[in-house]
Amino acid sequence: MFNTLKPQAPDKILALMGQFKADPRPTKIDLGVGVYKDATGLTPVMRAIKAAEKQLWETETTKTYTALAGEPAYHAAMAEMVLGADYPKDRLSALATVGGTGACRQGFELARMANPGCTIWVSDPTWPNHLSILSFMKQDYKLYRYFDNASRSVSFDAMIEDLGAVKPGDVVLLHGCCHNPTGANLTLEQWGVVADLLEAKGAIPMIDLAYQGFGDGLDEDAAGTRLIASRLPEVMIAASCSKNFGIYRERTGILMVLTDAATRDVTQGTLAYLNRQNYSFAPDHGARLVTMVLTDPALRAEWMAELEEVRLGMLGLREALAAELRQLSNSDRFDFVAKHRGMFSRLGATPEQVETMRVDNAIYMVGDSRLNIAGLNSETVPILAKAIIASGA
Ligand code: LMR
Repeated sequence: MFNTLKPQAPDKILALMGQFKADPRPTKIDLGVGVYKDATGLTPVMRAIKAAEKQLWETETTKTYTALAGEPAYHAAMAEMVLGADYPKDRLSALATVGGTGACRQGFELARMANPGCTIWVSDPTWPNHLSILSFMKQDYKLYRYFDNASRSVSFDAMIEDLGAVKPGDVVLLHGCCHNPTGANLTLEQWGVVADLLEAKGAIPMIDLAYQGFGDGLDEDAAGTRLIASRLPEVMIAASCSKNFGIYRERTGILMVLTDAATRDVTQGTLAYLNRQNYSFAPDHGARLVTMVLTDPALRAEWMAELEEVRLGMLGLREALAAELRQLSNSDRFDFVAKHRGMFSRLGATPEQVETMRVDNAIYMVGDSRLNIAGLNSETVPILAKAIIASGA
């Protein structure tokens, strides 16, 4: 039977990780997968997480099952972080998921159960795995234009024009902050225009929030999501704790759904059902650590301080790279690097130029020229800048 299986194209981002590992050149630079790295190239366990793990080890008395949808304390702590302290408790359903990817998957499944004929609208470009999962699910999706390659910024008029074709009950997937792969984000004013449009269309926003705290700050990065949540009657939010808590391998995510209060219980029940059908209970360890960090004032303060160090470090690298490129190119055409936010920027180089940088300089970035700013340090910024200019990008 298994000889009928066809080879699957490897995920491009994950394949790049393998290629990088296999490269023997000691000067190699990894700007591929979206994982934070410090100046020495390590992805540290955050201080507050380490402290919470120690506390948990000392106090945890059982590993028996928790609630199917995850612990209510985790839901509340995450809802407060994402939506703010005054989130509408009577309208919120929540589901602990296997990372942010699991939250996206369960959100797509929920949309399909509620409205089997819906189309899911996705930014062009988006995180490639969004498209891969939707295709695997045989779920209809359409792309809306998002990025202007010439200015490396959001092509907002084109986005709004394309979203004009959205039908009632369609789902529009938006990146809450730190757009992956471009690094180009909506302004709060533009979020307001999107909210107006989706409200008028009767469409459901679904926000993928994977990098809260990596852009302009913890609250600032949630501002668009909060605006949408305050305006639209029905909203889905798929949030990840992988990056901002540095717990990638713990697979900690959450799907939050806002409905009217009368629909809340059936929505909550459906979410729990989705976990049971797909994998039963979500992992608990990471969710428990996140809950401890968010609800203990000392741990929270420690975590916020470290997250801020990480954020400011990435901003500093952005500014250094933009300055270096400004000098080498004798132009301001790379200034967008300092304006983008989060881990990623799309450089706008061709796949051939990206390949040239890999072959000639051992610099690894995703083929669409997405680079992970956190893969740089003060020594590699000038090396990358030179390679970019030499590649003709
Ligand atoms: C990325 O975009 O690199 C990350 O979200 C990691 C992944 O799973 O692709």
